[in-house]
Amino acid sequence: MTTPLLTVRDLSVLYPGGPRQAPIAALRGISFTLGRERLGIVGESGSGKSTAGRAVMGLIPPPGRVAAAELRLGETDLSGLDQAGFRRLRGRRMAMVLQDPKFALNPVMSVGRQIAETHRAHLRAGPSAARAAALEMLDSVQIREPRRVYDLYPHQVSGGMGQRVMIAMMLIAGPELLIADEPTSALDVTVQRQVLEVLDRQVRGRGMGLLLISHNLPLIAGFCDRVLVMYDGRVVETLPASDRGRARHPYTRGLLAALPDLRRRRPVLPQLVRDPAWSDPAWSDPGGADHIGADPAWSDPDHSGTPVPAPPWQDFPGAVPPPVPGA
Ligand SMILES: Nc1ncnc2c1ncn2[C@@H]1O[C@H](COP(=O)(O)OP(=O)(O)OP(=O)(O)O)[C@@H](O)[C@H]1O
Ligand SMILES: [Mg+2]
Repeated sequence: MTTPLLTVRDLSVLYPGGPRQAPIAALRGISFTLGRERLGIVGESGSGKSTAGRAVMGLIPPPGRVAAAELRLGETDLSGLDQAGFRRLRGRRMAMVLQDPKFALNPVMSVGRQIAETHRAHLRAGPSAARAAALEMLDSVQIREPRRVYDLYPHQVSGGMGQRVMIAMMLIAGPELLIADEPTSALDVTVQRQVLEVLDRQVRGRGMGLLLISHNLPLIAGFCDRVLVMYDGRVVETLPASDRGRARHPYTRGLLAALPDLRRRRPVLPQLVRDPAWSDPAWSDPGGADHIGADPAWSDPDHSGTPVPAPPWQDFPGAVPPPVPGA
């Protein structure tokens, strides 16, 4: 069997709570693997989607703590890596596109130069080779006038254009894995589709793995090969995108039932009624549940050089219990 591009087993992220408050468990032992495919993570706000992406990228700042039984990028073990180690991998082997390019890009450097600088930093190219590579990259993400756009500053580009610039910047050093966290949620529907098509063409053309994070289940299901459904810090379901009709978890089924359908007139759309029992580990996806209670090796987010031993799984308290309707 070939090594997956990304292996995540029993990944947990814990933040300290306020004074005399229980810690916040943002991720509670999620497990999945990713090959050269498009895997979607879907879930409601606060379910831990971005935390999952950031933990893989080594972007959980202290005092957040990361634990994993296994966290690998190909053969590379990420679980014991310090920040310098993550910096060597970020950009070059894995990259993350964030929701809003206006915040993610440097406001005082032209967008083209930012792409070129990324190329130089990772591939040690000279200035003119980096500029040529950046122009080519702008062209390949369907920017019509690359030479003009190269010299624009982030505030001068539209949302869709900014998101293409971000994609260009994240792909220029040729990473194997791209994590895109709500890359299109700030865009209108037409531009959303164009940006996703650009992403799709690049990911397929380069044979990369894509982890696409969104709260939008139809978008994820239409665009990805497989879908992970998250609820309250856990993966509660993994489905082939084409098979979402067979969803088993009441949260996924509730989401699907609540979607409007032009072919079916319904006077009232059903509402999702949450059950506190959905937060129970028994609802974890079997791939994840098998590993709960395994011996997670804590990473070293505070760079002290001393791995922090994981508390027993049962010590992870429920941080934000899902609201109980009518309570
Ligand atoms: N730095 C932090 N300190 C404390 N808690 C945090 C921190 N970052 C995230 N959390 C908590 O972790 C949980 C998961 O957050 P996360 O941002 O991963 O959710 P999400 O699924 O991406 O939501 P959204 O769809 O709104 O982006 C939330 O309860 C959030 O409050
Ligand atoms: Mg998020």
